[in-house]
Amino acid sequence: MKIYLETMGCQMNKLDSELVLGRLRAAGHEIVDAAATADAVLYNTCSVRRHAEEKVFSRLGEQCKRKRRGGGRPIVGVLGCMAQRLAGELAQKFPGVDIICGPSEIDRLGELLEGALAEQRQLAIAPPRPQRPRELDDQARRRLEAFDISRPVASAGGAQAFVRAQRGCDNFCTYCVVPYVRGSEQSRDPAAVCQEVRRLVDGGVKEITLLGQAVNQYAWRDGGRQVGLADLLAMLDPIAGIERIRFVTNYPGHFDRAILQVWAALPKVCEYLHVPAQSGSDRVLRAMNRRYTIAEYLDLLAAARQMVPNLSIAGDFIVGFPGETEEDFQASCDLVRRAGYKNSFIFRYSPREGTVAARTLADDVPAAEKARRNAELLAVQNEVSRVHHQRLVGSVQQVLVEGPSVRAHKQPRSAPPGTVQLTGRTRGDHIVAFDGAPSLAGQFVNVRVTGATALALTGEASV
Ligand code: SAH
Ligand code: SF4
Ligand code: F3S
Repeated sequence: MKIYLETMGCQMNKLDSELVLGRLRAAGHEIVDAAATADAVLYNTCSVRRHAEEKVFSRLGEQCKRKRRGGGRPIVGVLGCMAQRLAGELAQKFPGVDIICGPSEIDRLGELLEGALAEQRQLAIAPPRPQRPRELDDQARRRLEAFDISRPVASAGGAQAFVRAQRGCDNFCTYCVVPYVRGSEQSRDPAAVCQEVRRLVDGGVKEITLLGQAVNQYAWRDGGRQVGLADLLAMLDPIAGIERIRFVTNYPGHFDRAILQVWAALPKVCEYLHVPAQSGSDRVLRAMNRRYTIAEYLDLLAAARQMVPNLSIAGDFIVGFPGETEEDFQASCDLVRRAGYKNSFIFRYSPREGTVAARTLADDVPAAEKARRNAELLAVQNEVSRVHHQRLVGSVQQVLVEGPSVRAHKQPRSAPPGTVQLTGRTRGDHIVAFDGAPSLAGQFVNVRVTGATALALTGEASV
């Protein structure tokens, strides 16, 4: 069967999609990159903001129309967080949808496709979280563990790979849907993580990014001993063939300083920390159920910078949270300046049904005002990013090459003969563009930085 899969949302979803595609390929299916030629069209979806869901509704509208004209083809499937959150609504609104599969059932996709071929609608979701007994999450964990550990590494493709450290989330930030759609927070057995990483090395992987919604809260109980993120990093660092280790996303509350200590001593753990603040106002943080103050947050950044020289830090912000005043918003602008982020991801608050914020707080910042705050915070961040990148001009950075840049495809003749414009990333996660042979993709190259913008660096390969 020809299968098309589009992935929305976070790195967790990207990893799930990669594992699913590996499985489908191994089962003899062909993966195509256009929905129009596919026998099955699948969407791995995100529920974190309304906009992400609207995109899927419009895609489903198109595909279901095509299906009515095309005599029952393609098979249409909704996977991921939106499937878990809105199964009933999707089933009712889109009679053409054949598969509705939540994140905890994603390992069953092959079998669901078979069922859909037999013209039966396939519904595979977990019961809603508040009513779901913990043992169901435990069963899912065992299944999903088999799914992760048996990932086909040959198809991983490229030198970089995501590796799951944690599933789910128990933090319940009041705005966030993730704990409801992804289930309870569970850390993976560190031995399984190490085994998976060793297999990825065999497939050519050099850089791994550990994933968790609050990855610094990673905790595995091994008999009486507790294995934390610091221990996991120390177990992964000696694995031959791995050159770089990252871990995202971090939760700033109760950040164990042992992580910083171990990090400073481990050569492969990169100088990059993604640790979202969400707001610069203590009052808003309380309403968000983020369990830290701005003073504690800044203290964490200072400690991290002291332990890990040349650290680059990235953040997330929500603007227009219920009750956010101009003063609260200005506190977010101040925090961006004081934190000196490499970059920030900035979002407009989007009420999510079922969350505490949506139930108890009026969405009282008008859309136009959210848009203004978004643009203003972005402008502040851009200036901070420009200064951050500018400081690297003149330095030599180790770059892991990803491949030809988008520009290289548009302007193939701007580079010397035999070369194209390549892009890659430094250990600090800065994007770097430089000219080189396309065969350098997946290799490390030392690049002298010659220019900087808010978004990226430019440079020349140095020998
Ligand atoms: N686990 C990660 C983030 C997961 S969601 C963490 O805690 O850092 C990614 C980002 O989406 C969040 O950091 C937050 O900034 C944003 N986000 C989550 N829910 C949102 C909502 N209801 N409206 C707007 N942005 C939201
Ligand atoms: Fe959502 Fe908060 Fe969990 Fe991140 S830590 S996934 S923002 S509930
Ligand atoms: Fe979205 Fe689900 Fe990730 S809601 S942000 S895809 S965990």
